[in-house]
Amino acid sequence: MQIRKAVAKDFKTIKALSRKYDFERNRDWKGVMKAKDNEMFVLVEDKRIVGFTGLVRNDWNETLQVLDIFVEPGLRKQGAGRKMVEFLKKRAHAMNKYRCLIAEAPALDGTDRFYRKCGFRRCGYNDRYYSNTNPMDIAVWMSYDLR
Ligand SMILES: CC(C)(COP(=O)(O)OP(=O)(O)OC[C@H]1O[C@@H](n2cnc3c(N)ncnc32)[C@H](O)[C@@H]1OP(=O)(O)O)[C@@H](O)C(=O)NCCC(=O)NCCS
Repeated sequence: MQIRKAVAKDFKTIKALSRKYDFERNRDWKGVMKAKDNEMFVLVEDKRIVGFTGLVRNDWNETLQVLDIFVEPGLRKQGAGRKMVEFLKKRAHAMNKYRCLIAEAPALDGTDRFYRKCGFRRCGYNDRYYSNTNPMDIAVWMSYDLR
């Protein structure tokens, strides 16, 4: 599997994956990809996009936020998610101007544990974040220090 920077035409595939797997299906993916402080990356297997992730640059507080991370269900628990996080960490270090990488994780499905396995620590939570979809879930904020 390879990771590469997303290009404009990848928008359709990302949107299709989002719809197919009901992952943030109402997100404005085109807007997300075009925003000046965002960059997105796709995970490719045999020329097929099977996952995506991204970064948001918050220059005002010198943080980078993980802009979603998604792996096709059939390919999970085989190291693809970790591969993307390691890619983001490397890219974040190379930028050399940010303090930490921050990720938001739905607690109910154990995504916070995934980030912990990738070297992040818990730094907060928001119990109103997902209220529109699943009122039982909370967003756990995870962080990884870059310096
Ligand atoms: C979160 C996600 C990207 C993880 O991808 P993945 O390819 O399954 O992750 P990996 O195989 O690289 O897992 C790395 C480690 O985390 C663990 N892990 C992964 N998902 C986990 C989960 N839901 N709960 C607990 N542990 C988990 C793995 O077991 C592995 O542990 P190990 O090193 O002891 O073997 C994937 O589950 C996904 O796409 N989820 C839906 C989208 C989502 O909710 N994204 C987060 C919010 S934006």
